[in-house]
Amino acid sequence: MTDQERYSLLYSLMPLDWTRGGREERVPADVPASAGYVPGVIRLGVPALKMTDASLGVTNPRGGRPGDTATALPAGLALGATFNPQLAREAGAMVGREAQAKGFNLLLGGGMNLVRDPRNGRNFEYISEDPLLTARIAGEAVIGTQSVGVLSMVKHLSLNANETNRHWLNAQIDPAAHRESDLLAFQMAIEKSQPASVMCAYNKINDQYACGNDSLLNGVLKGAWGYKGWVMSDWGAVQDWSYALRGLDQESGAQLDRMAWGNEAFNGPLQTAHGKGDLPQERLSDMVRRILRSIYAVGADKPAQPAPLDVAGHHQLALEVARQGMVLLKNDGVLPLAADSEARIAVIGGLADTGVLTGAGSSMVTPTGGFSAVIPVGGEGIMAGSRKQGYLPSAPKVELQKLMPRAKVAYDPGAFAADAAELARRSDLVIVFANRFESEGFDSPDLSLPYGQDALIDAVAKANPNTVVVLQTGNPVAMPWHDKVRAILEAWYPGQAGGQAIAEVLAGKSNPSGRLPITFPADIAQTPRPELPGFGTDFGTPVTVKYDEGAEVGYRWFARQGHEPLYAFGHGLSYTRFDYGDLALSAGETLTASFTVTNTGKRQGADVPQLYLTEAAGEKRVRLLGFERIELKPGESRRVTVSADPRLLARFDLAAQQWRIESGTYRVALGRSASAFTQAGEVRLPERLFGN
Ligand code: BGC
Repeated sequence: MTDQERYSLLYSLMPLDWTRGGREERVPADVPASAGYVPGVIRLGVPALKMTDASLGVTNPRGGRPGDTATALPAGLALGATFNPQLAREAGAMVGREAQAKGFNLLLGGGMNLVRDPRNGRNFEYISEDPLLTARIAGEAVIGTQSVGVLSMVKHLSLNANETNRHWLNAQIDPAAHRESDLLAFQMAIEKSQPASVMCAYNKINDQYACGNDSLLNGVLKGAWGYKGWVMSDWGAVQDWSYALRGLDQESGAQLDRMAWGNEAFNGPLQTAHGKGDLPQERLSDMVRRILRSIYAVGADKPAQPAPLDVAGHHQLALEVARQGMVLLKNDGVLPLAADSEARIAVIGGLADTGVLTGAGSSMVTPTGGFSAVIPVGGEGIMAGSRKQGYLPSAPKVELQKLMPRAKVAYDPGAFAADAAELARRSDLVIVFANRFESEGFDSPDLSLPYGQDALIDAVAKANPNTVVVLQTGNPVAMPWHDKVRAILEAWYPGQAGGQAIAEVLAGKSNPSGRLPITFPADIAQTPRPELPGFGTDFGTPVTVKYDEGAEVGYRWFARQGHEPLYAFGHGLSYTRFDYGDLALSAGETLTASFTVTNTGKRQGADVPQLYLTEAAGEKRVRLLGFERIELKPGESRRVTVSADPRLLARFDLAAQQWRIESGTYRVALGRSASAFTQAGEVRLPERLFGN
């Protein structure tokens, strides 16, 4: 390979008309419009890299491929809420197959930042606040994608936990706490799934930009973890060619770096540095070798021979994720509705007669059949143009009427509370849809529902207390009307079959089984940073976020502080009941728990029993140690065994650069959520130093 050939592999260009000034001329015209392109080395049989977003389906940025649609999955949080790694694998494989059929061989999926702030506009793309759950779901999605010969990745390493001024955000964290939280999630996902690439984040971590962060990339990722794939930057995250010396292997969307920082760092400047001897030949080879290694390891070198797409099957998969990911938060018995009911049902708000909401930004998928509505939101900054409320064509009101043919379902848009309340008064039951759009590039200022929807729910529930609320949100929301309504269903952004899934849960055709992958605070004051970092500053203003909570993220923080959340991590109701019994613990290299789960109700359903550490060698420390999603018929019992990853019982010892389990008593609890334990036990563990 010549150096010119090496250089050509080290940066990607966006094959897009990204400034509306014309398509990038350096990319051949037959390359499909998408996020990124790297030419191959034809002489040596190295394929071009054709990259597309993302985890929730194959995107069509700026409609650059006119008319091209794809299966739009529910939000990442919905996938997290399924607690179903096998389903995540199927979803990853599905998106991989669609990417391949459209001519792509690299999927920019694997979004897995831990949810640290319930206002982060991108949480909907991610999985959860917990390292184990996040790693298992994201890891399986990557395995699925790579199983069809499409390269994939995990992103964004690390701590891109807020969107406000993300290019200027300095995330500060204790390095050991980082290893026990966000980095542990990445570590577990990487060792399980061997992703072809890892995408580094926009932000700084402890004063160094993530993509030029020597201790993160060379020290932890490639050093301690022995990662063999390549590190690609996020789009517009490379300020300088010297990031190559600090662990970055490939610059992404180089035009964006030129626009933001003045040059295409790994195009001209990197070659000049190499010519002057500032970039050693060995490092140049290493960068290229890592890319080639992954291409051959995943089998992406072979020409793809995609089978015809099973579009209907993919829609069914989107439906299944939506069904399993929906979380019934509250139910006083009003749900499920009787399918043969002749009731007058008022469906109010949320464009529930049009479709279901989706999140915006680089992950936004144009669904099969196209959007049913797209409403621009706008704002400031480079993401303002893509900040849109997209509605996918699966209208809950229409689907509910199909499942309840004898009911009289009427719709009011909820624009005026007085109109909505009037319809509510004339109805037997009210279902209010409350939506909160979220988008990459923006955070929400607080936990409220936008556009006066809190007041709408209040007015409607006052007019008719027989009210059910369906939330489509990418985050927890405050619920000032909580006690005035009879049931609350969190549907997240439920994907292109979402309306059907919502209707099925309401009408009892599906038994809800989703569990919260994030804590719903009772008040923002309970969270580590009641004030949004960077709130009220102009685009481009540097912001420092001190993650003083360290590894105590989400439910761990709530336990540490003794706060009672509105709804705990792991919470979710069912139309049946599960009892737990016979907890048995054993200790060896790690801790293993066995217990029996029985469906004591009258319906078949799925449960997610969860095992938590509650105390470690005398210190209160809450950690999800294991979980399993099991489907049981009425009266059926099953024995479940979960073994803890020993790192979840340990602290990271920075001096030793190893994990350390202190000798002592370890208490665990079996529970329905992080704050509803049913049984507890303890084991003694000996001192142990292990792993890295
Ligand atoms: C996002 C990435 C995405 C990339 C390419 C960036 O704005 O942060 O997640 O893969 O764009 O579209």
